[in-house]
Amino acid sequence: MANDILKGKRGIIFGALDEHSIAWKVAERAAEEGAIFTLTNAPIAMRMGKINDLAAKCNAEIIPADATSIEDLENLVNGSMDKLGGKLDFVLHSIGMSPNVRKSKPYTGLNYDFFQKTIDVSALSFHKVMQTTMKLDAMNEWSSILALTYIAAQRTFPDYSDMAEAKSMLESIARSFGYHYGTAKHVRVNTISQSPTRTTAGSGVKGFDDFIDFADKMSPLGNATAEDCANYCISMFSDLTRMVTMQNLMHDGGFSSTGITAKMLGKD
Ligand code: NAI
Repeated sequence: MANDILKGKRGIIFGALDEHSIAWKVAERAAEEGAIFTLTNAPIAMRMGKINDLAAKCNAEIIPADATSIEDLENLVNGSMDKLGGKLDFVLHSIGMSPNVRKSKPYTGLNYDFFQKTIDVSALSFHKVMQTTMKLDAMNEWSSILALTYIAAQRTFPDYSDMAEAKSMLESIARSFGYHYGTAKHVRVNTISQSPTRTTAGSGVKGFDDFIDFADKMSPLGNATAEDCANYCISMFSDLTRMVTMQNLMHDGGFSSTGITAKMLGKD
């Protein structure tokens, strides 16, 4: 259902890799709600080519950028303002990658070069994006910046490995930058902590199928889907949430507040 709640808004959406990506669903919903935006991903991810289908569907342009490169980010932000015809109203950071997880390194035997890459791609990139938009004065007053995170930032999920540290840092950056961007420009900065979701990044975590099933049973509403997450992101980009900032917003069907469920005990 579309209500044009993003009509007239301009944005950048990072991280749509394929139709399962959370960012993909956000782009589809943002277009339905009347937003115009650029799509971006790491140059290496472009090779899959799927993002072209999304761009055609959403009438969006693609500007490749490695989110760890300031030069790429400056090109992306300037290019987006040029193509969209003005300053931005929203940014979605939907980026995560751990070489340690990819290469199945145990948490107690992390490769530290990989660890630094995990932090750079999955957390520091969020700071780099905001430092770049701030330097280029690219965000409108009351605009909204979001990143996606996971509850492993607060609680231990052993196979999430060094991504847990990255997510803790990501959430902290949202609070810290949120303060500075809020006081300087009324720009809002938040993270959404999403249920486990079947995507390329999600499925990379060992034992993901058991894990998604466990989370579903532990959540009174069940797991939030990528489509649900997209709807939440749209509300956070809209003017209906203009006083929400510096928050880590749980979007998990109640998982984070639940101790035990009848389903887990096999009693329903
Ligand atoms: P995805 O694999 O579709 O998206 C991750 C994206 O990060 C990909 O598009 C990838 O190309 C991009 N990326 C990796 N390195 C990059 C770089 N250097 N520069 C720019 N982009 C880069 O998976 P998903 O699940 O949609 O992930 C999106 C976000 O949601 C991530 O932050 C992830 O940690 C978070 N999240 C995912 C959950 C899940 O279970 N799938 C649960 C909670 C949070």
